[in-house]
Amino acid sequence: MRIGRMDLRVVGSVGSTNSEAADMDVWSALLAREQLEGRGRLDHLWDSQPGGLYLSCVLPPTDPPTLYQFWAAVVVKRALSDLGVEVSVRWPNDILVDDMKIAGILSEHKGDRVIVGIGINVNNHVEDRPFPATSLIERTGKVSDVEGIARRMIEIVQDVPPAGDVMEKWRSASITEGKRVSVTTLTGVISGTAVGIRDDGALLVETESGVEPVTEGECRFT
Ligand code: BTN
Repeated sequence: MRIGRMDLRVVGSVGSTNSEAADMDVWSALLAREQLEGRGRLDHLWDSQPGGLYLSCVLPPTDPPTLYQFWAAVVVKRALSDLGVEVSVRWPNDILVDDMKIAGILSEHKGDRVIVGIGINVNNHVEDRPFPATSLIERTGKVSDVEGIARRMIEIVQDVPPAGDVMEKWRSASITEGKRVSVTTLTGVISGTAVGIRDDGALLVETESGVEPVTEGECRFT
């Protein structure tokens, strides 16, 4: 199905939409009813039972390359706001309602393209997650049309340029700054106060030894 310049393919079950989309053309998107090997950031699994939204969009690269994960959060925020659910964001890309995760983003560079994967808890159960989580059905009390939300997101994707004031929009939804944080990176844990987010997406953490820019990691409020 064509939505503007984006070609959307809807499938039943896949391993991971991000992995499948790696071979697709720029300006195409893949929506799956369920994922058998849904992937989260930092090699985590993304629980992907039927009823959730599992969407990957194949897009041209941006500068800086990290911009897409912040841009995608702005897109998801707008789509959920249209459905009456206001979200906030926690660095780098957790989308939260009342500090519970409702959506996540996995943005991956593959040669000359970027695969932006978006997972949203819509009608699926979230009780068994290893972190506090919620879903659209919990927030609105009604079943939502997953494919309809995906179509709307693809319109918003084409409406919000991945440039300009994306970081400003992201910061205005962020609840990260000013919080005591503990960021688990691939090389260790950085603890301190989040004092800002740079335009290249790095989180600035004020530690006992000064302000450290952190480019990747899992952030928890402490
Ligand atoms: C995270 O918060 O860790 C990111 C979760 C991203 C999940 C989405 S669902 C669609 C796409 N396909 C995947 O395998 N992962 C992303």
